[in-house]
Amino acid sequence: MKYETMPKDHEAAVRTLAMPKDTNGLGDIFGGWIMSHADMAGAIIAFRRAGGRVVTVAVNEFVFASPVYVGDVVSFYTDIARIGNTSISIDVTVFSQRSDGEHETCVKVATAQMTYVRVGANRRPVPIAK
Ligand SMILES: CC(C)(COP(=O)(O)OP(=O)(O)OC[C@H]1O[C@@H](n2cnc3c(N)ncnc32)[C@H](O)[C@@H]1OP(=O)(O)O)[C@@H](O)C(=O)NCCC(=O)NCCS
Repeated sequence: MKYETMPKDHEAAVRTLAMPKDTNGLGDIFGGWIMSHADMAGAIIAFRRAGGRVVTVAVNEFVFASPVYVGDVVSFYTDIARIGNTSISIDVTVFSQRSDGEHETCVKVATAQMTYVRVGANRRPVPIAK
């Protein structure tokens, strides 16, 4: 499930602060930084559900809906979209919270779906327990 508003009953897999070092030439946060954190967020839930080592096999979808600014608190929410034989797809929804000291706003900035494969010690696919 990709969330429309920041879920209150669900903990973010990753929450972090957007810093000046993460900006592009325009001064906004660059997409690769968001993608990297989305991959980490997805991997956390994939590892837990798959019961061990996973690798990212595909970014099925990545949509940047709104820019992220320096100083935003960025939260990555995850949900299992599909469990296959050896693969697991995770929906990631990203929200940015920004404040001017008096007012806080929350913006949905990106959605993604990533697929991970459960692998064994030889790095080859292993079935995920149902
Ligand atoms: C992940 C990896 C082990 C899969 O090996 P493979 O020989 O393609 O294995 P399979 O063909 O058996 O596919 C395994 C699963 O991945 C899925 N898969 C493979 N390619 C996919 C793709 N492009 N998109 C979505 N799913 C894909 C298959 O559908 C299968 O899922 P299922 O078992 O649930 O049906 C191999 O591709 C790999 O090591 N990739 C590099 C992973 C990595 O290093 N990631 C970090 C990024 S640097």
